[in-house]
Amino acid sequence: MEPVKIGVVISTEESPSPRRVDFVVTDGVVHQGQYVEIDSPQGRMLALVEDVIKTNRYFGQPEIVREYELRSSMEENFPVREWEFLVGVARPMIVYAPDGSKLRPTLPPSPGATVYSPPPEHLKDALGFADEGLRLGTLQFHDVPVVLDLSRLVQKHFAILAMSGAGKSYTTSVIIEELLDRRPEQGRIAVVVFDVHGEYVGFGEPVTGGDYEDYSDRTTVVDVRNVKIPVPELTAGDFNFLLPQMSGAQRRELEKVIASLRKDMEAGAGPYDLKDIIERAERDITHQGTRGALISWLRNLESTGLFSAVESPPITRVVRPGRLVVFDLSKTVDSTVRQIVVSYFARRLFDLRRRNAIPPTLLIVEEAHNFVPSDTSRGDVPARPIIETIAREGRKFGLGLCLISQRPVKLSSTALSQCNTHIILRITNPYDLKHVEESSEGIDKRSADMITTLRPGEALIVGEAVEFPVFIKVRRRRSQKSKFEKNIVEMAKDFEQQLRDVEDVVEDL
Ligand SMILES: Nc1ncnc2c1ncn2[C@@H]1O[C@H](COP(=O)(O)OP(=O)(O)O)[C@@H](O)[C@H]1O
Ligand SMILES: [Mg+2]
Repeated sequence: MEPVKIGVVISTEESPSPRRVDFVVTDGVVHQGQYVEIDSPQGRMLALVEDVIKTNRYFGQPEIVREYELRSSMEENFPVREWEFLVGVARPMIVYAPDGSKLRPTLPPSPGATVYSPPPEHLKDALGFADEGLRLGTLQFHDVPVVLDLSRLVQKHFAILAMSGAGKSYTTSVIIEELLDRRPEQGRIAVVVFDVHGEYVGFGEPVTGGDYEDYSDRTTVVDVRNVKIPVPELTAGDFNFLLPQMSGAQRRELEKVIASLRKDMEAGAGPYDLKDIIERAERDITHQGTRGALISWLRNLESTGLFSAVESPPITRVVRPGRLVVFDLSKTVDSTVRQIVVSYFARRLFDLRRRNAIPPTLLIVEEAHNFVPSDTSRGDVPARPIIETIAREGRKFGLGLCLISQRPVKLSSTALSQCNTHIILRITNPYDLKHVEESSEGIDKRSADMITTLRPGEALIVGEAVEFPVFIKVRRRRSQKSKFEKNIVEMAKDFEQQLRDVEDVVEDL
């Protein structure tokens, strides 16, 4: 495609320089956030339009404007419309030399040089989009698909940061679709989501109407109430985090109990569960004070219903190439249960992946600030160490991490700093905005200002997966939202119906 001429470089005090090129628009319009190409002595220069200014000489002197407007109007006396100009302020990013090499811009274009709308293939190349990869949407103001390389995005981890309602979960659904839709010869990974609000369960529901793609045959939704953590897999250290109130003596006694059960199991007795631990403790621990409290704590653990002799879901069977596992944590309000589930299964994925017993996997953590918080004094977050470990070491083993949060300030900076790509949607809270500005590579003041004005589904991508920060429009999703997800009006109707039902019953009585 031939580049289309849209303007001409002008001469001002600050421009043109290798850092800034101002140009007057001669054809059509130019938007802030759009890219342009400019003829320069080094070759064809690609630049990002950071600002657009409208000027008109006629309106430059307030006293004259006022005089004319008092008597009649500027418009009646002068051809003012013909003197309105758009001036673009562009930041040069890269130069294509005639020999095909890419250079850093070190020489400005000349005043009078032509400004073009860049051909899509130049943009694709300059911004680092892949031929084959995850198609997240399109570049804003350009008809260029945004395709990110899977390894660059997933292997070195990424974070999706934005205020609530900006489109984090929607964007994540789009990424999941791209991963599930890969063909075997493209290399397929598995996806596991810790879904705090039940936003991904729609993937597991068969499509009955509408224009959606059916992912139910590739998805396993796990209701947290059916999750079972196998007791024989738990080490004495795990019990320390499950029962932090244990004394040294209780810890030692429990270790002995577990060791003796393990010996029986190895001798062929079969896997043991919490009930077996409780019985053995009652039998073997002689000291009444040590035994009494320990047994009541173990009973509390047992009452969560989370523990059993065998694992459910069986991770090696459900974590498969091109498949999705959704842990629906919305079915419990107990934050301890959520923490235990996340920390156990995150650790399990890490261990299995290290042994190559499951395929390369992307682990997605919604509301990540609750599982890897910045506040290191919090004692109620057993999931933190394993998620930080995955953030640091996961890439070596092909275990990618995606942290999603609407409170980046509250997210562990150890974990966030290992997320090499940031997908940022609208953020208005100044603390979070400042934090994102500081923790994301390559965001300048102007980009940061634009983050506050993004619409739902508009995102800024910075870091490993792209060459330069890019603003994109996330595409429409193909998967359906859960049919069971209710809005507040539906919830209100349900509630009133419930009240009426109760009144009916009372009347009957
Ligand atoms: N790319 C998009 N295209 C169309 N609508 C979108 C897009 N992203 C978000 N939305 C809309 O915004 C709403 C909120 O998005 P959601 O992902 O739930 O936000 P968050 O997870 O950040 O709270 C969605 O229900 C959807 O209607
Ligand atoms: Mg969400």
